Amino acid sequence: MSNKTLQISLSFLLLLSLFSLLQVKADDPYRFFTWNVTFGDIWPLGVKQQGILINGQFPGPQIECVTNDNIIINVFNSLNEPFLISWNGIQQRRNSWQDGVYGTNCPIPPGKNFTYILQVKDQIGSYYYFPSLAMHKAAGAFGGFRILSRPMIPVPFPPPSGDYTILAGDWFKANHTDLKAILDRGQRLPFPDGILINGHGWNGNTFTVQQGKTYRFRISNVGLTTCLNIRFQGHRMKLVEVEGSHTLQNTYSSLDVCLGQSYSVLVTADQQPLDYYIAVSTRFTSPVLTTTAILHYSNSARGVAGPPPGGPTVEIDFSLNQARSIRWNLTASGPRPNPQGSYHYGLINTTRTIRLANSAPIINGKQRYAINSVSFIPADTPLKVADYYKISGVFYVGSIPDRPTFGGAYLQTSVMEANYREYIEIVFENYETTVQSWHIDGYAFFVVGMDGGQWSSSGSRKSYNLRDTVARYSIQVYPKSWTAIYMPLDNVGMWNIRSENWERQYLGQQFYLRVYTPSNSWRDEFPIPKNALLCGRAAGRKTRPL
Ligand SMILES: *[C@@H]1O[C@H](CO)[C@@H](O)[C@H](O)[C@H]1NC(C)=O
Ligand SMILES: *[C@@H]1O[C@H](CO)[C@@H](O)[C@H](O)[C@H]1NC(C)=O
Ligand SMILES: *[C@@H]1O[C@H](CO)[C@@H](O)[C@H](O)[C@H]1NC(C)=O
Ligand SMILES: *[C@@H]1O[C@H](CO)[C@@H](O)[C@H](O)[C@H]1NC(C)=O
Ligand SMILES: *[C@@H]1O[C@H](CO)[C@@H](O)[C@H](O)[C@H]1NC(C)=O
Repeated sequence: MSNKTLQISLSFLLLLSLFSLLQVKADDPYRFFTWNVTFGDIWPLGVKQQGILINGQFPGPQIECVTNDNIIINVFNSLNEPFLISWNGIQQRRNSWQDGVYGTNCPIPPGKNFTYILQVKDQIGSYYYFPSLAMHKAAGAFGGFRILSRPMIPVPFPPPSGDYTILAGDWFKANHTDLKAILDRGQRLPFPDGILINGHGWNGNTFTVQQGKTYRFRISNVGLTTCLNIRFQGHRMKLVEVEGSHTLQNTYSSLDVCLGQSYSVLVTADQQPLDYYIAVSTRFTSPVLTTTAILHYSNSARGVAGPPPGGPTVEIDFSLNQARSIRWNLTASGPRPNPQGSYHYGLINTTRTIRLANSAPIINGKQRYAINSVSFIPADTPLKVADYYKISGVFYVGSIPDRPTFGGAYLQTSVMEANYREYIEIVFENYETTVQSWHIDGYAFFVVGMDGGQWSSSGSRKSYNLRDTVARYSIQVYPKSWTAIYMPLDNVGMWNIRSENWERQYLGQQFYLRVYTPSNSWRDEFPIPKNALLCGRAAGRKTRPL
């Protein structure tokens, strides 16, 4: 190496280290929100209901932010009952303290407030937030949550001319306290009364487009009990993103969106300048409920006409094949500039297999739902808080088996133990005749396989997609079928694994995964927040003991 080259490389090195110093020092941006949660009248299906509003809005305000932003949300509970908000698909690295579910946070008492402090570390994509306690989700308080890519990170499609959110879900005319009372009595929920799109029924929303331009629609199923299917009359949807993964850009004329799931599609306004239906229907139900919104060309000559486009009928194979066709674009960037495919999820050996079977047992004369025969019941103290203060007797690790027992079902505050940095395979086994939807807090997972019949370790693994499946947070399991995922346990904490069917979730089809390391280091997990609310057997403790 000549002196000159040496000099250049030395100054280059200096520059590099300066840069990395700056990067460490530069604080990621902060975004502040103040939310007032109140009851208020809404008329989504033409009848007056008591909704849960955020700052007077139903659905609640949308959060829009950029990868690595800090999100500070001060939530004032002006209801007359305890309240919490949780974040579907927001990872909260090292920080299950912000997850806002029964097992991680004390409820915000009526008239009080709590400030969530989240960082959307290394995330992009489309998500939503929702109220996690009781049956509040049946009354509102949900909203969109989108994380944009940082300006320098390439996005694998041109910037769209508009970016719309569609929060769709089934809806009941009965209010949330009446629905909760039905479940508390041990009965099943009735069939829903309708479907809402962004809080409105039939033709209650208009999305305006200009002929020739392309628009992004971020579609989430925020409903309580049913998978949905969405169609744009006369138009095709190009799938570009699934819960933070950029996909191969397949086109679909109808797309299934199961409970808790989020998809981004591009729709080009390439038809005659008219108005068109956006139709959303319940999937795998009888009867089928449908609602519509309007895709309005700005130079439209005519309102919507004819019947809305029909959806698929039962056709489970169609849906299964569609789910399998959703692939990762290996060469596209995710939240970082490197290609998504540089993480070879399929080449890493799993260290443990967990098999989870759902069931719908009657326990003590009441309808319950269970996982591996255990039906979850909350404790008097959030599990995360009890764990932190080493309050014994609130829960026991290992209180749910990690494979189906097919034995008699029982009630338990179920917590499964797992080790930090393990790489696990989870198989969801559905022996029932209804479709299931599962969500895991704190982790994106790779959906390696799904099929009909019973999963077997020798046969089923041969069909796994170990190359280009997507990483996501919510996944469906078809009737009498299984779905398998791979999940790197890279996030220490107490994480909720739950059914996204709210009847099932409320009546016990959930548990907590305690991902543990003995290290006690801030590098692995944040300590309890200074503003943590304390309740139950932790009431009166100090949040940061010396
Ligand atoms: C929340 O809204 C209610 C009803 O409008 C109001 O009475 C209350 O003062 C508000 N609270 C906060 C903290 O803004
Ligand atoms: C729900 O409706 C019932 C009547 O069916 C009513 O008694 C109750 O107060 C309502 N609850 C709320 C929160 O609006
Ligand atoms: C409640 O809000 C106040 C500001 O109005 C804030 O100082 C306080 O930290 C909040 N409480 C919690 C528990 O976050
Ligand atoms: C995948 O992403 C790359 C890089 O952004 C893009 O050029 C390509 O068109 C994408 N491929 C498909 C099939 O979507
Ligand atoms: C995975 O396990 C196989 C068989 O035990 C072994 O040959 C391979 O080296 C392992 N791969 C990794 C990445 O550890």
